[in-house]
Amino acid sequence: MKVVNGTIRELIEAWDGKAVVTRYDRESGAWIFIAIHSDFLGIPVGGSRMMVYPSPEDGLKDALRLAGGMTRKWASIDVPFGGGKAVLALSRPLGEEGRDGLLLRYARLLNSLHGSFATGEDIGTTPRDMTLLARETEWVYGRNLETGEVVDPGPFTALGVMAGVRAALRHLEGNDELKGRSILVQGVGDVGGPFARFAAEAGAQVLVSDLDGARARGVADGIGARLVPPEDVYSTPCDVYAPCAVGATLNRKTIPRLGCRIVAGSANNQLEESEDAERLFEREILYAPDYVVNAGGAVAFGVLAQRETSEERVREKVARLGPILTSIFDEAKERRESPLHAAERRIARVLEGMRA
Ligand code: PHE
Repeated sequence: MKVVNGTIRELIEAWDGKAVVTRYDRESGAWIFIAIHSDFLGIPVGGSRMMVYPSPEDGLKDALRLAGGMTRKWASIDVPFGGGKAVLALSRPLGEEGRDGLLLRYARLLNSLHGSFATGEDIGTTPRDMTLLARETEWVYGRNLETGEVVDPGPFTALGVMAGVRAALRHLEGNDELKGRSILVQGVGDVGGPFARFAAEAGAQVLVSDLDGARARGVADGIGARLVPPEDVYSTPCDVYAPCAVGATLNRKTIPRLGCRIVAGSANNQLEESEDAERLFEREILYAPDYVVNAGGAVAFGVLAQRETSEERVREKVARLGPILTSIFDEAKERRESPLHAAERRIARVLEGMRA
């Protein structure tokens, strides 16, 4: 799980994945990294993240970690795709024209791979971007088969987090009632936004935080949530802390300060290092492994790829993340260990079964 800091060479040499497609996009100054972690279960599928990074190495590091996470995510929901992820590492924010140009060239790169990688949305890319890509390449997944439009995975991911929060509450309290429970949502973007809304609609007392103050206020006003300044997120008492922004928010500095009993959110790579699972366990904070609780978007993609058209069916499948997490929590409890280990064993079993 831990990727070392280093040069591009050191990062790739230390990685357990299969291949990295690298392209420097001279026109925009962006680096494109397509990290292919595994392909023995099927075609590698993962989102495309577009962000400004301090350096190309930071972008590559993100791609490598995220691609490994996709292998685990597909295995934990039993969908026969491989793990992969693309990072379009910007050196500076791009205007609309620059961005569209980059996406067009990215689409051509995807075409040149002839199906070695297929993609969808992630942080920094939008349904509009995916529609643009889909005009140039068939390697954009998650389309509505009737309209041909690219489906926004965000609300499905949010539904999955709801199922995960309920499973965690059932495990600790014996009931999954959200009324009277406080849920702190860190990051109210494409997933955190809908999740905060679903949680409020279910009667939870929602607290929201976002580095973008205007966005936080907009969501908070819309659903009657309390605002939490970013610097207070970790120490604010709540039942559930839902990290829904970038990764590595759970680490040796933040875990001792946490005021929650459950961590369940949509961010990828929430743990800075795998030891952080132990740190949470020692503090008796129940951790829902990120790649399971945030798999709702992936579930939706898997179902759509099987030519499913009914949204009801997709929702049903997403809701199955609840029982999956329950079995992970139960196994972990029995063995007195972090749910992360139970999740890793489940994945090993699935991967073995699929390999055979
Ligand atoms: N980016 C999301 C994730 O990491 C949704 C997604 C899943 C996008 C699968 C493409 C493919 O799960």
